Amino acid sequence: MIAPTNRVEKEQLIDGFGRQVTYVRLSVTDRCDFRCVYCMAEEMTFLPREKVLSLEEIGLLAEAFAQLGVNKIRLTGGEPLVRQNVMQLIQHIGGLPEITDFAMTSNGSQLTRMASDLKAAGLKRLNISLDSLDPDRFRQLTRKGDLQQVINGIDAAVAEGFTGIKLNAVILKGRNDDEILPLLEFAIDRQIDISFIEEMPLGEISEHDREATYCSSDEVREIIRQGYPLLTSSTDKTDGPSRYFRIPGVKTKIGFISPHSHNFCGSCNRVRVTAEGRLLLCLGNEHSVDLRAVIRANPGSLEPVKQAIRDSMAIKPERHHFSLGGFNESSTSEFGTDELNANGDVQILRFMNMTGG
Ligand code: 5AD
Ligand code: SF4
Repeated sequence: MIAPTNRVEKEQLIDGFGRQVTYVRLSVTDRCDFRCVYCMAEEMTFLPREKVLSLEEIGLLAEAFAQLGVNKIRLTGGEPLVRQNVMQLIQHIGGLPEITDFAMTSNGSQLTRMASDLKAAGLKRLNISLDSLDPDRFRQLTRKGDLQQVINGIDAAVAEGFTGIKLNAVILKGRNDDEILPLLEFAIDRQIDISFIEEMPLGEISEHDREATYCSSDEVREIIRQGYPLLTSSTDKTDGPSRYFRIPGVKTKIGFISPHSHNFCGSCNRVRVTAEGRLLLCLGNEHSVDLRAVIRANPGSLEPVKQAIRDSMAIKPERHHFSLGGFNESSTSEFGTDELNANGDVQILRFMNMTGG
């Protein structure tokens, strides 16, 4: 006997591997005031404005996902805060009752000016990139960034008392691996969290050789243990790919995002939408759905875009295929990490600013 459908039951997005998608990262712009060496080429061509979703279109998408059981939205870029009038969108999403976890990834450059409005609009958590505490090196790594401006931005955010602030540090051997402990101490001083990230092969860059600068999370942890021998693995969970560690008596959580050395796809609960409205089902695969076309064919209506999102669940891949040189295109569904370094790598041509961190 077929049970009658319970109409009040909340709809859920479940993919072909039984994973529920509850988390969406929305890129609000591909533009950025920085040009971080691991993220962008020095000369970037950005999208023409008509190709980028309008703030209203992004707002509509947020509502569609919220009605499909998503409770966490993260705004990313590029740098979200360089988009004109982005506050309108932030207020809109901050007012969606289903979205209980509202976060943003930012480079911190605009936070001195905007932290208080972000808090008032209902943003709960901020991830802020910080790869160096040396002004010259910070400038080299970001090509344009001003360290003091970012530190002031971080301090403005800390003063606002967000539910969570986390620093993101991409560690490159020979570039900033000697700053692992100072960066950690910066976070500890402010009682905020920090994640150390292995560089991902997104976008073809020529500034450095990614194989030469690869610094594994294991190496980063060994360096931290030299300063903090009591660093221990913790059971803290967020619904991100970080694995967390703690130091007894210290508030700061220390996360490791290790796309190369640790496969986190089995518990993946997220999808991404690019600034152009392309729904990416996996960071490490090119599977995508053109939501912009659906929205623009049906302006202002939620149901067609909700249906396109429901349908997309069927093509969410089981796992990514990162390896050091790029991605291994093999579509096998085995879960061995050794396979990540197999031959036949391809470079994903999307840059991180297109993908949305
Ligand atoms: N590999 C790893 N992390 C990256 N980020 C940008 N590009 C890369 C990459 N190729 C990180 C930034 C920022 C977030 C948006 O993504 O450090 O924290
Ligand atoms: Fe901008 Fe972030 Fe990319 Fe750096 S990593 S260029 S701050 S989008």
